[in-house]
Amino acid sequence: MAWKTLDDMDLDGKVVLTRVDINVPVENGEVTDATRIERIAPTVRSILAAGGKPVLLAHFGRPKGKVVADMSLEITRETLAQVLHANVIFADDCIGPVAEAAVEALEPGTVLLLENTRFHAGEEANDPEFAKALAALGDIYCNDSFSAAHRAHASTEALAKLLPACAGRLMEAELGALEKALASPEHPVVAVVGGAKVSTKLELLGNLLGRVDSIVIGGGMANTFLAAQGIDVGKSLCEHDLAETAREIMADADAKGCTLVLPVDVVVAREFAAGAASEVVAADACPPDAMILDAGPESVAAVSAVFEAAKTLVWNGPLGAFEIPPFNKATDAAALKAAALTKAGALLSVAGGGDTVAALNSSGAAGDFTYVSTAGGAFLEWLEGKTLPGVAALG
Ligand code: 3PG
Repeated sequence: MAWKTLDDMDLDGKVVLTRVDINVPVENGEVTDATRIERIAPTVRSILAAGGKPVLLAHFGRPKGKVVADMSLEITRETLAQVLHANVIFADDCIGPVAEAAVEALEPGTVLLLENTRFHAGEEANDPEFAKALAALGDIYCNDSFSAAHRAHASTEALAKLLPACAGRLMEAELGALEKALASPEHPVVAVVGGAKVSTKLELLGNLLGRVDSIVIGGGMANTFLAAQGIDVGKSLCEHDLAETAREIMADADAKGCTLVLPVDVVVAREFAAGAASEVVAADACPPDAMILDAGPESVAAVSAVFEAAKTLVWNGPLGAFEIPPFNKATDAAALKAAALTKAGALLSVAGGGDTVAALNSSGAAGDFTYVSTAGGAFLEWLEGKTLPGVAALG
């Protein structure tokens, strides 16, 4: 798809309404992970360098159209200023007289952050009147929020049609990485699809089956596939009602020449707790009173061999209960293998999704992946083959 970038726009002296996603984790009034703020810095710096005036539009949490004090974006102001090395002014409304006055007073070299767009019901309703009120504040619209592009909201969709629109640097990077990984990848392509439930990944599996050469299935999802083959998974997390669906997916994979890589050995425990006593057993030997919490070492070796043979890797979801050690071992080992292959220039690796990024960060592998997306739901929807309204609106 063809969309304009910041390089196609004359930004000098222009107010650039820049939709960012700074929906960052916060604890006790402090931003605990500034990654999303760091990743929008190139866009804001580009706008400033070209003489433009960046006015940031963003949501924070899910206030559902009401002003909710602890969902104010003001909490991000200081971190933004530190990361951007710029003066950041905050206005406590994103439309109307307060926002207009703040834009009017904006000095060159300064960034304006407007209050949470979701404090207005018109945002999530994609209301044309609310979008018009936003558009009235600026000259140019720049969307740098790939991670919010799966939402057809006023600041991600309707607004793009009211002003000259372009993609920001992060949006460009996200789309570029995803295109390389899935739209025109170098084969063989392997996908890692993990997580608790098959039911949340059905569309993803459906889309991937026709596009990738193998799919490594991990996490609780793998239990459903094992059970669908008549294997007793004891007390493991398992969607027994999806056995037929899992069998259909296996048949479809067969028909399309896509190899499904399921665990051959598993780590089992009697309780789901950090440091719980565990043992490695064959995938078909889970004791009736135990649960599968991770893939075993032989499974990791098999996954590593698939990675070694691949040219492209797309990763969404952990292989085990990675947040509770020692059940992070398979995810960590496989992630480090992918990172090493990437570092050696043998693999293009792209990962995304909330849990995935946390897992790759905790294994220390994230830094060596080719690209780690900032997106959760949007990454998943893109992998599902869906059109993202925020991206489509830029076309
Ligand atoms: C995210 O955190 O994934 C994005 O900011 C989107 O948030 P939402 O799921 O509340 O729309």
